[in-house]
Amino acid sequence: MQTFAIGFLCSYAAALPAQTNGFIRVDCYGGLNQMRRDFCDGVGIARLLNATLVLPKFEVAAYWNESSGFGDVFDVDYFIEQMSGYVQVVKELPPAVASKEPFRVDCSKRKGQFDYVESVLPSLLEHQYISITPAMSQRRDRYPLYAKAAHCQACYKALRLTKYLEKKGSELLQAIPKPFLSLHLRFEPDMVAYSQCQYSGLSATSMAAIEAARGDRKPLTGEVAQIWRNRGKCPLTPNETALVLQALSISTDTNIYLAAGDGLMELEGFTSVYTNVVTKSSLLSDRDFNSLHGNTKAALDYYVSINSDYYIATFFGNMDKMVAAMRAVDGVYKSLFLSRRAFATLTSKGIRGEKLMDELWKTHRDDFVMSRGYALSDCFCEFQL
Ligand SMILES: *[C@@H]1O[C@H](CO)[C@@H](O)[C@H](O)[C@H]1NC(C)=O
Ligand SMILES: *[C@@H]1O[C@H](CO)[C@@H](O)[C@H](O)[C@H]1NC(C)=O
Ligand SMILES: *[C@@H]1O[C@H](CO)[C@@H](O)[C@H](O)[C@H]1NC(C)=O
Repeated sequence: MQTFAIGFLCSYAAALPAQTNGFIRVDCYGGLNQMRRDFCDGVGIARLLNATLVLPKFEVAAYWNESSGFGDVFDVDYFIEQMSGYVQVVKELPPAVASKEPFRVDCSKRKGQFDYVESVLPSLLEHQYISITPAMSQRRDRYPLYAKAAHCQACYKALRLTKYLEKKGSELLQAIPKPFLSLHLRFEPDMVAYSQCQYSGLSATSMAAIEAARGDRKPLTGEVAQIWRNRGKCPLTPNETALVLQALSISTDTNIYLAAGDGLMELEGFTSVYTNVVTKSSLLSDRDFNSLHGNTKAALDYYVSINSDYYIATFFGNMDKMVAAMRAVDGVYKSLFLSRRAFATLTSKGIRGEKLMDELWKTHRDDFVMSRGYALSDCFCEFQL
């Protein structure tokens, strides 16, 4: 039998440049895990450009209707200490640059493989202080090792929740019956609207919530909709999720922590099958729960999910990638992403009942048995022992 191990690429640091090319602030938008992803990318870019990093801006008001900065979620001093030798970080700007607003460089709409040195360095050199929003996806394989290492160190080693959140997270963890499975069930109005998928059998309340979140993304119809669904683009409903878990022979009395937002729809479809389900709101005191907001709630779900006995996600979003990677860093693995594609293609062929359960089991068997999740970021490499 072949055995594999997963290594972490961060044991590499080159001497930091004697002179900085300027100061970079990373501007992050979206939900917590998206901001975290962009911030990690930004750290790699700062190092690539031999720049000094300023603490990032976490712009959350638009998404969560609230404000909470980087320091409300992550331990700033720990971050700075952990990044020592990887990239220069400052809490305060020198007076000469502190008085001005950074020059804004938005790469979020950039597509394909552009070169940060070519397209961003000139602005940095000219303005000496820039804010940057990294591109959605950028391959890092041509980065020098020291920039990759800064990215990986930032993302997987240097970000720790604040003491307050760690304490709340560990209280929450203690309150959950053991052993337990953390389930990231992503069937929320924004996600369903964004997916452009349609579902039959939804309640009027759910339909209204989806419409409210719709914006200009009209649902797909007809053949296009079916192709889209077969490509695995449609979030699994709570009903469907319960079915897949049963196909994996996960007993219906399993303790399950729902790592999900407050807007989860059609949950009865799941809780009528899996009856031992707990959530943040059921376990935290009203006082604690009400003191949390979008970002800190997401931070607790993350905390519980990296510490659970098993992690299952119905989607493959930023949180899922982050949790699976952290579980790999910690050597606990046991992560599984359910296949929306398999579910859609099987059901579209009219497969139902026992046969469906059997096929779903076959689809997930290897991942479930290996149980380490897949598509880890390029901070990890696999080698044969
Ligand atoms: C950063 O510094 C390294 C070595 O000090 C150098 O090789 C590299 O070209 C520099 N990159 C930029 C963008 O200044
Ligand atoms: C956002 O916050 C403001 C002020 O607290 C409140 O009036 C408004 O209803 C909130 N909007 C949403 C969508 O929650
Ligand atoms: C979930 O299943 C129940 C019972 O089988 C059904 O009544 C309901 O419409 C289903 N909901 C969805 C969203 O498919």
